[in-house]
Amino acid sequence: MLKRLTSLFPVFWGHWLSVVGSIATTVAANAFLVFFLMDMTRGLNPYSAAVAYMILPIFFVGGLVLVALGAWRGGKRPGAEARASSRLSTALQAITVDPKTRKRLMAFGLLTGINIAIVTIATYKGVTYTSTPSFCGQLCHQTMEPEHTVYKDSPHARIPCADCHVGHGIGPFFESKLAGARQLWHMTTGDIPRPIPTPVHGLRPARETCEKCHWPAKFSGYRMVVHHKYADDEQNSRTTDVVQLHVGGMNRRTGKYEGIHWHVNKGVKITYEAMNKERAVIGKVTVERAGKTTVFYPPKTYTDPKTEKDIPFPTKVVETRVMDCVDCHNRPTHVYARSESMAIDRAMALGKINPSLPFVKKQSLALLKDTSAPRRDAGKRYAAKLAQFYAQKYPQVAKDKATQIRYAGEELGRIYRKNIWPRMNIRWGTYPNHLGHRGTSEGCFRCHDDEHATKEEEYISQDCDTCHDLLADDEAKPDVPEAVLKLGQR
Ligand code: HEC
Ligand code: HEC
Ligand code: HEC
Ligand code: HEC
Ligand code: HEC
Repeated sequence: MLKRLTSLFPVFWGHWLSVVGSIATTVAANAFLVFFLMDMTRGLNPYSAAVAYMILPIFFVGGLVLVALGAWRGGKRPGAEARASSRLSTALQAITVDPKTRKRLMAFGLLTGINIAIVTIATYKGVTYTSTPSFCGQLCHQTMEPEHTVYKDSPHARIPCADCHVGHGIGPFFESKLAGARQLWHMTTGDIPRPIPTPVHGLRPARETCEKCHWPAKFSGYRMVVHHKYADDEQNSRTTDVVQLHVGGMNRRTGKYEGIHWHVNKGVKITYEAMNKERAVIGKVTVERAGKTTVFYPPKTYTDPKTEKDIPFPTKVVETRVMDCVDCHNRPTHVYARSESMAIDRAMALGKINPSLPFVKKQSLALLKDTSAPRRDAGKRYAAKLAQFYAQKYPQVAKDKATQIRYAGEELGRIYRKNIWPRMNIRWGTYPNHLGHRGTSEGCFRCHDDEHATKEEEYISQDCDTCHDLLADDEAKPDVPEAVLKLGQR
């Protein structure tokens, strides 16, 4: 068999390069087929997929190149040229009359067909693989793990990373692969920023990403936001905020855009100047609508959120940007808690941490504040710490509610592990959320500050009723139906 093959394909043995090349190609092809079959039957983990669709193809094609190179070098032996030219002149005759040449030719054709098939499958699978969440989120384990983890727990958990991060069409496709190659390089050399900076300045315009699935004309009307807050006293006293948001959209009755989604109305273009990379400080805001342009100028001074001192408004424009979905929805899928307090409130409102445990809010806050604690075994550690606290201060509670205490500790562990990533320098509030005006971002108030004004002294309003009806503001007994209070906390 081997002999027949070698006699059939002298090209493989004519030069050592060809020998190395054919071995590489054969091994890679066989391994690739095994991986491919495994992928078809039970799927591959990210590491095997990377080997199958990124590394093996390099060996496969490299091998073919070596074979060709060897054949070319081997052909340079004395007399070969003469043979080649005579072969050329008799080629047609040989094909028709010489059965050996015909066989060779047919086998060569068959092998070329197989090669093309393998290269095509590998290229296709390789390219699609590099766009899957498992590649984006898991292969780059350390780097993307935080984004992947919070994404898995969001409304968009089933949407490939590329649907938001890569636009449609050939241009965005190549741009993203180039950027990806650069990022892979940074990753292998360990030269990556920690945390990965936000906003993502290269993000495709929302028109190309979000608007593939959502359309701004959709009328969302009102949306209720309920926030139960727990104090740090013994009873974990509860107060509640209830706002009815005027999300709006296109009102089918009037045909006009109204409410919060007015900003992304097709007839309006809002352009703003960002005065820092984070887009946290916003300068001039220009609104173009129905052929009319309105310009809102920033105030002369503003309060620095870090020092709470009044400082002159920056003058250097970092970026001029057309407002789109992501200026409000900057955390549609990488949803970190806005603060440790809000994360605990949410767990308590949902009953994952039992609000009847005395001082549980205060204890939880103290535990989660320490972000130098390791992520490993966080749940067990917090459960033990809570158990110790209750055993000392409330022995009866410790006995009666041992399970509740353990659950509370485990829930704190889950909150911690979702939000704190020491290796990437991600801690409470690292990634601000612009939707609203809570937590570490001024959000809407970056523009709606009653300070940005036209020359005619019209302001971008901070009037509470512009955006919502405030049905309850920090009230122990809010005057709203019980059913509303049961709405899930966000
Ligand atoms: C629903 C759309 C969407 C999906 C799906 C999505 N992202 Fe994002 N991603 C965003 C937006 C929006 C931002 C923030 C952009 C900004 O503020 O400019 C972002 C930011 C990021 C950042 C920068 C750090 C940060 O949190 O701001 C990384 C890294 C990232 N995404 C990785 C991923 C990975 C990996 C996946 C898949 C596992 C993924 N994204 C899926 C929309 C998405
Ligand atoms: C591939 C389709 C797709 C893309 C692209 C997409 N989304 Fe979504 N989005 C969905 C689906 C489906 C849901 C509903 C999920 C559910 O209800 O569980 C959703 C839900 C939402 C919600 C509502 C969450 C809530 O609290 O109910 C917001 C806000 C949102 N998306 C914003 C965005 C933004 C901003 C972008 C672009 C950065 C985007 N989406 C891109 C499909 C998409
Ligand atoms: C000016 C800020 C702002 C802009 C710009 C904006 N949104 Fe919203 N959007 C909101 C707020 C606020 C809510 C209500 C959030 C809540 O319920 O907590 C909302 C709610 C939503 C929802 C959930 C309601 C529903 O209909 O199911 C979706 C989906 C959504 N937005 C998508 C988008 C998309 C897509 C864009 C861009 C075309 C966009 N938004 C632009 C502020 C904005
Ligand atoms: C980049 C600046 C900017 C940001 C950020 C911004 N807005 Fe606005 N918003 C404007 C401007 C400009 C107007 C128009 C003011 C005018 O013409 O009087 C406006 C108008 C509005 C209106 C009135 C719409 C109407 O029907 O006339 C609502 C409601 C609103 N914004 C809600 C929000 C909410 C909620 C957020 C945060 C989630 C937000 N805005 C964030 C610039 C901004
Ligand atoms: C430019 C729009 C806008 C204006 C003006 C505005 N808000 Fe809000 N507010 C929001 C949005 C959007 C949310 C919902 C945030 C979310 O979904 O997390 C919100 C949420 C709230 C909440 C509930 C949040 C919580 O943490 O419990 C309270 C309370 C609130 N606003 C109070 C006020 C008061 C008081 C004013 C007037 C000084 C005001 N807001 C002005 C947009 C606005």
